[in-house]
Amino acid sequence: MPDAAEKIDSSLIRQLHDRGSVREYRADPVPDEMITAVLNAACRAPSSCNQESYSIVVVRDIEARRKIRQACGGGQPQIEQAPVFIAFCADTRRVAHACAKYGQPFDAEHTLEMFLVSSIDTALVGMCASLAAESVGLGTVMIGAIRNDVITASKILGLPPKVYPVFGLCVGWPVEAPPCKPRHPLDIVVHRERYDGTGMEGGVADYDRTLAAHYRSRGMPTVDHSWSQHMIDRFSEPPRPDLRAELKELGFEFR
Ligand SMILES: Cc1cc2nc3c(=O)[nH]c(=O)nc-3n(C[C@H](O)[C@H](O)[C@H](O)COP(=O)(O)O)c2cc1C
Repeated sequence: MPDAAEKIDSSLIRQLHDRGSVREYRADPVPDEMITAVLNAACRAPSSCNQESYSIVVVRDIEARRKIRQACGGGQPQIEQAPVFIAFCADTRRVAHACAKYGQPFDAEHTLEMFLVSSIDTALVGMCASLAAESVGLGTVMIGAIRNDVITASKILGLPPKVYPVFGLCVGWPVEAPPCKPRHPLDIVVHRERYDGTGMEGGVADYDRTLAAHYRSRGMPTVDHSWSQHMIDRFSEPPRPDLRAELKELGFEFR
């Protein structure tokens, strides 16, 4: 980052620079008031057309968290370890209700746009919840793996049709401050006035090396082209190929 930019400071900018996903939690409880304060603040997030098309399910019950962990594929011990798991769900039911009550057909319901917008609304609230939780010293990690078996996860959460969990959020007290994972160099991400992809190849190569050094400094095995290899491993097969059919079963028709 340019030196001048580093002088621009705020508690939120510092928090963002220091943040990292937390995957190890202490057993200490997280008070309900704290979760309510975090979610109350998170719902201040902007939402498309003010439609607020999301619902949030707070899960504390250990049996339910165990089942959610299994539905996520069985890894992810943090889902059981963190005392709170919050599912952020795209939900247009309140919009549908308002339209139905006043006799307006809700033709947009099954459009890709509506699905996208409700997923975006949900993600913004989830990110705000993560930041709000971190601001009071809690740790969080998002769990996209909740879409590994979205039907089972939705059943555990008791979701009605046409509502799906976009991601979960583990919330608890971190065992240690999380490591700050490096990011792509800003100049291959941020473009001034017009998109300029000329620096991409060199920037990605730089990032591969930076990330490899980061992992090695933490005693974690990696290769020199660390990030690129991770992407290759991740996408050697299409991710969640059944998701479209599963969402259809949950009531999403994608017209
Ligand atoms: C939508 C979303 C889903 C994620 N799903 C998972 C997950 O299932 N399990 C996990 O351990 N981390 C998950 N993460 C966390 C990412 O792995 C993490 O944010 C990324 O590696 C960058 O690391 P950092 O957050 O520590 O900076 C997810 C993050 C996002 C934004």
